[in-house]
Amino acid sequence: MLYLESIRLARFRSYSALSLSTQSGPIAIFGSNGTGKTNLLEAVSLFSPGRGMRRASAAEMTQHRAEGWSVSGLLYGSDRPRDIAMRSRDGAARSLRIDEKPATQLDLGRLSRVLWLVPSMDRLWIEGAEGRRRFLDRMTLSFHPAHGESVLGYEKAMRERNRLLRDGQRDSGWYQALEAQMAKAGAQITANRAAALTKLISAQNFSETQFPTARLTLTHPDIPLPVTEADLRHALADARPKDMAAGRSRIGPHRVDLYGHYQAKDCPAYDCSTGEQKALLISLILANGRALVADTGSPPILLLDEVAAHLDPDRRAALFDEICALGSQAWMTGTEQSLFDALGSRGQYLRVDQQSITHVRA
Ligand SMILES: Nc1ncnc2c1ncn2[C@@H]1O[C@H](COP(=O)(O)OP(=O)(O)O)[C@@H](O)[C@H]1O
Ligand SMILES: [Mg+2]
Repeated sequence: MLYLESIRLARFRSYSALSLSTQSGPIAIFGSNGTGKTNLLEAVSLFSPGRGMRRASAAEMTQHRAEGWSVSGLLYGSDRPRDIAMRSRDGAARSLRIDEKPATQLDLGRLSRVLWLVPSMDRLWIEGAEGRRRFLDRMTLSFHPAHGESVLGYEKAMRERNRLLRDGQRDSGWYQALEAQMAKAGAQITANRAAALTKLISAQNFSETQFPTARLTLTHPDIPLPVTEADLRHALADARPKDMAAGRSRIGPHRVDLYGHYQAKDCPAYDCSTGEQKALLISLILANGRALVADTGSPPILLLDEVAAHLDPDRRAALFDEICALGSQAWMTGTEQSLFDALGSRGQYLRVDQQSITHVRA
């Protein structure tokens, strides 16, 4: 069972110093606006590869007027507990140590899986493709820890190709190596996403859940996305003249969008009510969790910021039931303790009050 047994923060956002012990299972965190609930969840989100749930820089996470921050914790996983320690100095990207040895984001991704829903994702289905792609990639990363490396490698090669395009470079020799890199990483990205989607779809179809099934498809503008490495490499080479006119790469996995459809209502997700859109996201996060249990034997750590908003009491109770059934350490926030009444004695309760967090009874 994957969970954080303890977490310590120093000079991280609103927290000068905090030390907290937690158990597996749901954690209900409540307190007034601006007391530091989301900051705490953001710190937990760093226990997985990437920039964390606010996509903030290490400099932004540094407490005002401080020179750096640290976040550490004891992570229990399938075999033995690991001491995870992260720190940032002078705004530099965070460094990572696992059991006191320098480690990479990939090492962390192999140990830990963290998924989140935050209030800005309430608009995920109606806003631009980028947010949906990021959501898709985070779910994909949970199944394929090396997915993040593929995405970074692809984007780096694409940035260089875009520079050539904008410079009006016509010599194909300049493009070949970059397009080969894009094709190799791109085909891997496409394969990872497709495999993740298959797992999500079956995890939704073959389970009892109160949450609506989202029918999911991946789309790509204008032409079908070339799937194999060779096809993508040829498509990129053929696209050079038009890409040069556009000043950017128009074909590839960086343009894929995740289309969601509310199956029972036969309605595109973007036309659903705010509450229904949220229910679809929750459904996917829970399906992701179930698929990870099947894959790795353990559910992910979940961060559900302000999750009670837009959920009626029945849906809220259903969410708590499903989280308990999944067995996830789910960090959930709300302004009032009463929002978690249906969770009852199954949860741990934390009251947040500017810098200090206290365990309270159900
Ligand atoms: N880098 C930082 N240094 C100090 N305080 C910060 C920093 N970033 C955010 N804050 C403070 O954290 C508070 C917001 O905390 P947050 O966790 O978002 O609150 P909430 O409990 O409503 O989720 C604000 O008062 C904000 O000023
Ligand atoms: Mg908040």
